[in-house]
Amino acid sequence: MDIIKTENLTKKFGNFTANDNINLYIKENEIKCIVGENGAGKSTLMNMLYGVLKPTSGEIYIRNELVNFSSPSDAMAHGIGMVHQHFKLVPSLSVFENIVLGTEISKRTKGGIKLPLIDTKKELEVVRNLINEQNFELDPLSKIEDLSVGARQRVEILKMLYRKVDILILDEPTAVLIPQEVDQLILTLKKLRDLGKTIIVITHKLREVLALSDSVTVIKQGKVTGCVNTIDTNEKELAQMMVGRDVVLSIENNHECENNAKTLYEAKNITTLNSYGKKCVDNISFNLHENEILGIAGVEGNGQSELVKILTGLMESSDGQILLDGKDVTNKWPDELRNYGLGIIPEDRYKEGLCKTMSIAENCIAGYHSQNQVCNHGLLNKKNIKERRNQLINSFDIRVGDIDGEVGQLSGGNAQKIILARELHQNPKVLLACQPTRGVDIGSIEFIHKQLLNYRDEGHGVLLISSELSEIMSLSDRIMVMYKGKIIGEVCAKGATTQQLGLLMAGIVEDENNER
Ligand SMILES: Nc1ncnc2c1ncn2[C@@H]1O[C@H](COP(=O)(O)OP(=O)(O)OP(=O)(O)O)[C@@H](O)[C@H]1O
Ligand SMILES: [Mg+2]
Repeated sequence: MDIIKTENLTKKFGNFTANDNINLYIKENEIKCIVGENGAGKSTLMNMLYGVLKPTSGEIYIRNELVNFSSPSDAMAHGIGMVHQHFKLVPSLSVFENIVLGTEISKRTKGGIKLPLIDTKKELEVVRNLINEQNFELDPLSKIEDLSVGARQRVEILKMLYRKVDILILDEPTAVLIPQEVDQLILTLKKLRDLGKTIIVITHKLREVLALSDSVTVIKQGKVTGCVNTIDTNEKELAQMMVGRDVVLSIENNHECENNAKTLYEAKNITTLNSYGKKCVDNISFNLHENEILGIAGVEGNGQSELVKILTGLMESSDGQILLDGKDVTNKWPDELRNYGLGIIPEDRYKEGLCKTMSIAENCIAGYHSQNQVCNHGLLNKKNIKERRNQLINSFDIRVGDIDGEVGQLSGGNAQKIILARELHQNPKVLLACQPTRGVDIGSIEFIHKQLLNYRDEGHGVLLISSELSEIMSLSDRIMVMYKGKIIGEVCAKGATTQQLGLLMAGIVEDENNER
């Protein structure tokens, strides 16, 4: 039986058609993957199924019943739950408080009468049981703000399971996960399917589509362009269906490990403590040369985020020194760092890279307001700014529905491309690239990777921080691995193996003496 069926489902934003007569069929108890380029309309479609967006026309049937959702709570009442591309948790509340939020359990008298008091003990117990059932590594009492992204996602999933949904939609759940977490999520989702749930997953990673799903639907420019059973397809065919051409899934890079060129960027013994007084960046030193991509690999939560915060002026280093092109830039402000020639692609695109409620044009100059072309005598030069916007959009093939709209309306991958285009346009001496292709489609990844290699070949330096090991391995010249706030090892990218890096990421250093 089709548990979900849509007929000619259409969504327009003004004159722009994001979903164009979509006929989608989801079988009960299957794992369906939805794939397609950035801006194809995947999230829009899911948001209609979840009651976040109202269709412009067309029908949605759930278990053969025609539905007309006004809000996610209507969808939830039909057993549909969704974990969004960008999580919707309350950072200052604990795990269990987030899970029960809106459906708190009241205390009762011995006679069973509801009291106007929350029974936190009971809530905690219920959430603990749920965590144990799923075998998740999660402390119900931790605050969301202290959790890794992977752990936050587990909270989002639990939140849905707590509400007893039987159709679970996940929008790019693996974009933020490290490989081990991805494998764990795949197992979790398969287990949920085996328990009778229906699961819809949007992803850009074809390996995951093949490992996870029963069937795949391809969306291109708002239309369904293909639907196949997973066993009948492969990565190459899916890439073709999505992009309409062959995509180079692995890039050629003539890695140089020995680089005697000038040092562009240098960190000497930088150290910092987190809010609990624990050393999260511990005596880190590195040298980045001209014409070099230095990768930093590591399991998320091993100090990479804090290291980036120090390097980008968002956190203070309590010790050590940072030199950019020979100048001391230790603990400088982000705008000063930009003036010294540092381009920044932050880890969290919406928190640190963009302002969602501002226009695309304003975001294209964010961080560069002091430039003459942008601002003269305290007045913004709107014409120049629009020209720059158009140039960036064209050069990076950024798909925007409404060019004068807010950045918050862009699809995830296109928003990411705005940051990349903006930072590379400045031609900085050094680019700090954190998760540069997170949420970006395969065709655009190919493009961005080429841009980064070209930029390096022009003589610049890139510090690449990514949880995508394959990205680190294919782009870097040298790779350092971070573990528990320290650099635990360094290898040449040429000849490095996943296994070798995986061991370092797990904190295991091979003793050279034992090899003999
Ligand atoms: N509220 C909105 N107002 C105007 N345009 C919108 C709005 N929401 C989405 N769009 C546009 O609709 C198109 C489809 O967006 P959607 O988020 O569904 O893409 P997607 O397939 O999920 O892409 P990605 O892989 O990058 O997440 C995009 O061009 C986007 O700019
Ligand atoms: Mg999306």
